[in-house]
Amino acid sequence: MLRPTQRRLRAQSDMECVGYYGLQMSDEYTLTPAKTEHAEGIGRVIRDAIERINARDYPPAEINRLLRNFTTENVAALLEHRQTLVALVGEEIVGTGAIQGAEVKSVFVSPDWHRKGIGYALVCELEEMAASRGIETLEVSSSLFAKQFYSALGYIEKSRNFFGDEETVHMTKAIAPNQSS
Ligand SMILES: CC(C)(COP(=O)(O)OP(=O)(O)OC[C@H]1O[C@@H](n2cnc3c(N)ncnc32)[C@H](O)[C@@H]1OP(=O)(O)O)[C@@H](O)C(=O)NCCC(=O)NCCS
Repeated sequence: MLRPTQRRLRAQSDMECVGYYGLQMSDEYTLTPAKTEHAEGIGRVIRDAIERINARDYPPAEINRLLRNFTTENVAALLEHRQTLVALVGEEIVGTGAIQGAEVKSVFVSPDWHRKGIGYALVCELEEMAASRGIETLEVSSSLFAKQFYSALGYIEKSRNFFGDEETVHMTKAIAPNQSS
């Protein structure tokens, strides 16, 4: 069971979570399992990132569809069947990510907190959670924007998928030792 932990990316020598665990603590942010009362804050971070970042890559109708997926009510429902983490700065939610089966879902960081290692820390923690449940390979349907982020973490592009106007990048990563992607 994950306990609240604090992570620091900048101490890392690579981008694939190797040697990630057990780092010294950071005073910047804390990762903790999401609770029902986090649904409103999670939805706010996700919608903010969609409007300010993903809207550059997708048409308005697609963005509106995505925004509707992440109302507080819908996020609360997603929390029921996903293992979800939040990144907190003090009491403020600044990032989130989840695992559903063998899939990484909904990794979003508030645009005001990008490039500080929060996304990296979230995905590394999600990988640890998945590995502890015996999952050997993780998948993600990456947004166009996040492709380089996932590549930096060792995810490999397998295909491009289209859901209406939404183009996503299907990527995988072997998280068990001696597995290839
Ligand atoms: C993708 C996202 C979660 C990354 O979060 P983040 O906290 O900014 O990422 P990190 O700071 O941990 O980045 C780790 C590394 O990934 C790579 N990376 C991250 N963002 C990148 C970008 N925009 N362009 C190129 N590389 C990037 C870099 O190698 C980075 O290390 P560096 O900053 O030392 O160069 C964030 O940009 C985001 O929320 N995007 C909008 C929502 C989205 O598309 N989510 C994915 C849904 S599938």
